[in-house]
Amino acid sequence: MSEKATLEINGKKYEFPLVRGTENEVAIDIKTLRSSTGGVITIDPGYKNTGSCESAITFLDGEKGILRYRGYSIEDLADKADFLEVAYLLIFGDLPTQEQLDKFHSDIKENSVVDDDVKKILDAFPKSAHPMGVLSSLTAALTAFNPSSVDVSSEQDMYNSIVRIMGKFPVLVSWAMRKKHGLPLEYGDDNLGYVENVLRMMFKNPNREYEQNPILINALDKLLILHADHEQNCSTSTVRITGSSHAGLFVSLASGISALWGPLHGGANQAVLEMLEAIKEDGGDTKKYMAKAKDKNDPFRLMGFGHRVYKNFDPRARIIKKAADEVLGDLGVEDPILDIAKGLEKEALEDPYFVDRKLYPNVDFYSGIIYRAMGIPVEMFTVMFALGRLPGWIAQWREMRLRKEPIGRPRQLYIGETYRPFKAIAQR
Ligand code: SDX
Repeated sequence: MSEKATLEINGKKYEFPLVRGTENEVAIDIKTLRSSTGGVITIDPGYKNTGSCESAITFLDGEKGILRYRGYSIEDLADKADFLEVAYLLIFGDLPTQEQLDKFHSDIKENSVVDDDVKKILDAFPKSAHPMGVLSSLTAALTAFNPSSVDVSSEQDMYNSIVRIMGKFPVLVSWAMRKKHGLPLEYGDDNLGYVENVLRMMFKNPNREYEQNPILINALDKLLILHADHEQNCSTSTVRITGSSHAGLFVSLASGISALWGPLHGGANQAVLEMLEAIKEDGGDTKKYMAKAKDKNDPFRLMGFGHRVYKNFDPRARIIKKAADEVLGDLGVEDPILDIAKGLEKEALEDPYFVDRKLYPNVDFYSGIIYRAMGIPVEMFTVMFALGRLPGWIAQWREMRLRKEPIGRPRQLYIGETYRPFKAIAQR
């Protein structure tokens, strides 16, 4: 017998089906709400209680601190898989065989040259431009060089578009950084692995061969896996709603990059480092910043803390915190802000304001400390988040299109002026 929810409005009862996911989450299917109640809608700013779609890609349980990509735990994937395997898993639904993975990588390499004319767009940006703005613009611009929109009825066409952006995006990431630092633009090396290639394109000095460092490769591989998808977060929802108008894959991704840039979302990893630096400059006075974070009249927030879904530890933060100790140790880097971060975390986890609101460190709290130890400039931190999230965005866009989801168009509750007659300017 199908489960139902009953709603009573002005004495009249309405029934709506309850739908249950594979992890026993329950949703009220309100597809017929407005038509059956004569116009009643729901309202839920920030969609804190509203599901936008059904998805088979990522499951997370905020209360238990669980995160799984296609059923595999984030802990297993971060420990046993590499980023390209995880990208394949997210996009196509299963871990690849060696043959599938090799073909995926080779097809990506085949598509990793970016049209040289894109450099003319890049040259138009001032060096002061934030790399996230450059990356979003260049990603959208790729449409001009790959004009055919994706034929979603053809698996091959979808696949070709996916390997095209998986190949070109790391080049744009490296160009955004190198342009800002006045370095000549690099193309990839097809003899390298995906993550090795990213590091070489970002850091190769024009005067010498780039020497790969396994510590950096492993650290970046793990960080990209941890950022690869996170169900219907702000930027992924932006990619989905842009793609729901049947706008192309590249511009849908560009809109996601723009949403990720915000300091409340992916931009938080840069904001965390700037906050920790400010605390260090301020003599390490964490109590002053804790007080600011709790002061309702102060817009300051403890960046890297809190999460819309996780009301327990963000499982990614646990993994990254452990990796930060390992990577800085392996690199022989002493960074006082790691100790400041740990001190801040300890204080917050014992403070009623944070405990009562279930505010824990999130994925952004420790990631910047590793990026900095790897030599990645702070303005590139959110770009690295975007590089990690790329396969998740692609997977979510692909699922939305293959499921033929309708164009996203929320309703609203109007609270403005009721009808009033036009008034000539002389009467105003
Ligand atoms: C990411 O959604 C995802 O999955 C995102 C992400 C992903 O992988 O895609 O996980 C990546 O974006 C992680 C979040 C990075 N952002 C930050 O670290 C910025 C700092 N955190 C916040 O601004 C905040 O916690 C959010 C934006 C992350 C979540 O905000 P919500 O869910 O809208 O919660 P809220 O703003 O309603 O806060 C609830 C209460 C409020 O206090 P009260 O009004 O109840 O008194 O908690 C307070 C807030 O003021 N609060 C904080 C706080 N975060 C929430 N107070 C101080 N410092 C903070 N960081």
